[in-house]
Amino acid sequence: MKPTLIFSLKCCLTTCLDLSRVIWLVFRTGSPFLCVKHMVTPVVLQAEVFPYPEVGNEEAEEIQQLVAPVEKFFAEEVDSARIDQEAKIPPETMNGLKELGLFGMQVPEEYGGLGLSNTVYARLAEITALDGSIAVTLAAHQAIGLKGILIAGNEAQKNKYLPKLASGEHIAAFCLTEPGSGSDAASIQTRATLSEDGTHYLINGSKIWISNGATADIMTVFARTEVVKDGVKADKISAFIVERAFGGVSSGKPEDKLGIRGSNTCEVAFDNVPVPVENVIGEVGGGFKVAMNILNSGRFSMGSSSAGMIKKLIELTSEYAATRKQFNRSLSEFGMIQEKFALMAVNAFVMESMAYLTAGMMDRPGLPDCSVEAAIVKIFSSEGGWICVSEALQVLGGLGYTKNYPFERYVRDCRILPIFEGTNEILRMYIALTGMQHAGKILTGKIKELKKGNIGVAFGMAGKRLKSAFGSSVDFGLTGKDGVVHPSLEESAKKFEQNVAFFGTTVESLLYRYGKSMVDEQLILKRVADVLINLYAMTAVLSRSSRSISIGARNHDHEVLLANTFCSDAYFKNNYLMTQLQKHSPENNDANIKKIAKEVLENRAYICSHPLERTF
Ligand SMILES: Cc1cc2nc3c(=O)[nH]c(=O)nc-3n(C[C@H](O)[C@H](O)[C@H](O)COP(=O)(O)OP(=O)(O)OC[C@H]3O[C@@H](n4cnc5c(N)ncnc54)[C@H](O)[C@@H]3O)c2cc1C
Ligand SMILES: *[C@@H]1O[C@H](CO)[C@@H](O)[C@H](O)[C@H]1NC(C)=O
Ligand SMILES: *[C@@H]1O[C@H](CO)[C@@H](O)[C@H](O)[C@H]1NC(C)=O
Repeated sequence: MKPTLIFSLKCCLTTCLDLSRVIWLVFRTGSPFLCVKHMVTPVVLQAEVFPYPEVGNEEAEEIQQLVAPVEKFFAEEVDSARIDQEAKIPPETMNGLKELGLFGMQVPEEYGGLGLSNTVYARLAEITALDGSIAVTLAAHQAIGLKGILIAGNEAQKNKYLPKLASGEHIAAFCLTEPGSGSDAASIQTRATLSEDGTHYLINGSKIWISNGATADIMTVFARTEVVKDGVKADKISAFIVERAFGGVSSGKPEDKLGIRGSNTCEVAFDNVPVPVENVIGEVGGGFKVAMNILNSGRFSMGSSSAGMIKKLIELTSEYAATRKQFNRSLSEFGMIQEKFALMAVNAFVMESMAYLTAGMMDRPGLPDCSVEAAIVKIFSSEGGWICVSEALQVLGGLGYTKNYPFERYVRDCRILPIFEGTNEILRMYIALTGMQHAGKILTGKIKELKKGNIGVAFGMAGKRLKSAFGSSVDFGLTGKDGVVHPSLEESAKKFEQNVAFFGTTVESLLYRYGKSMVDEQLILKRVADVLINLYAMTAVLSRSSRSISIGARNHDHEVLLANTFCSDAYFKNNYLMTQLQKHSPENNDANIKKIAKEVLENRAYICSHPLERTF
């Protein structure tokens, strides 16, 4: 049977994540029930996200040394208009990037890379993001292309491949997507057949949309292999290191794209490519897990990339807004223009806060898998980035629409972000289902009791009713005398706690209402994911600005303003989303939405008669 998406999602959930490990703090504490039962959770919450991660002296120095030359290079040597126009990054620019070490940012120094932590990598991503084509070329090479060797390769593979990849002498690509297999990555058809003498595999198949597909020397390729376990044959995905030099690899012509035009994207075909058995990454049959781990480990950096882009947009537009006059007033005097700058500042601030919180957690030894957080960062920053770019363009009016300014290119370039590295639709399901699965596991027993009518047994709490907790709150120890949140953010912290309390009861009642069929309730899952995205964003800004106040960071009052503004906005959005999730909610239009979509899709058309039509 061809695996369906839900199947793949499930196998992704059960194979990639050790579910006994706690997945995410809000889910751990998401239900007041859990909170009452396990009083340790507030402590965990604080330890993981409070205080906000700090860089050590050594790292701070490293950042100082790296940032200046990379900024200089992007300001002076990178001609983004030309890269976009010619749909190619000139060789001298590529060489400059290689000389700066940017092809091996996270490769350990022993293999010739810069050995950067996730945090420092995120810092540099703010700068490389200023050119979308370069950012994607670099990311395809190291965030996904060589990442498999880095995180799942053995010593021999690392020694053999990493040095030339880190220097940029060899370019890497990541080959997963196929014509019949996009979001449903578990359904790939490319096949690897073991040779009779058992020394090598023959890879046959075709991959599409491969970034660096024409330039890559080394590719991480995913293919089906026959695996025999306990005498039973099974068809499983394995990951292979494929050198173009093995023979039989051919690349198609570059795709003609909307944006990131200087980044090469093309089809890559494998025609009986011989790959030595030593080139399997990880276990034979363990490739799907490798693919998911690679993608999960790279997404977090989209947060700092988008923040970097928005900060640049503010620079590019604020001078214009202050000097351009209409109606005998500067544009910057108009409320609707001012609002755009506030929007950009809040978004940049939230993205930065989430990106460095997540990177900091990922850099701590032994901490839980941050794939849900990374997915949250990716969604928030790809969608927030898109809105900000469009608003920045709007500030310039007609000029913004021309090629004389970089805004139209930024609009085109950043449109890819919600599509690749896991579409935002798939990632929303991942976020909602991962969290719900965890909450569900804990609640299953309770729900069974509940269905039998034993409400008292189920909750062990007299008088607890399954009704909306709107207005009630959970105490995480964020505020008050020993609170970790600064008093100037207390109102926001309380809003966060109220949202979490409401969220806890909302998830409980959803699980009770839908049980396992929840996986098919996409409109519900989407809202659950959106609430979680807002909650994580609130956590990040509260943690960051509390730190800024306590260390007396420059303009920390402005941070407090941004944090409180975001939290207040997110609080109301969350309450609305959760209100829509209540049973019989008049705010919920899902039945109509489904009906409209059904009528349109069944007819493959908009079906109203034209308003000017007279006979029917
Ligand atoms: C410029 C570019 C570079 C890329 N680089 C690489 C690369 O280097 N390596 C690589 O392997 N791939 C790469 N990709 C492929 C990319 O990851 C896929 O395009 C992406 O995963 C989506 O797959 P698809 O295009 O087949 O869309 P589909 O999977 O067909 O999806 C189409 C739409 O339906 C939605 N959808 C699908 N399933 C569901 C569902 N169950 N529920 C709700 N909505 C759903 C999707 O979110 C999307 O909006 C690249 C793509 C582009 C455009
Ligand atoms: C690979 O595909 C070719 C045709 O494209 C076919 O002739 C060959 O037998 C296939 N090899 C394997 C090992 O399946
Ligand atoms: C434009 O504004 C300036 C000062 O803001 C004022 O002195 C001038 O009279 C205004 N011109 C018109 C045409 O209203």
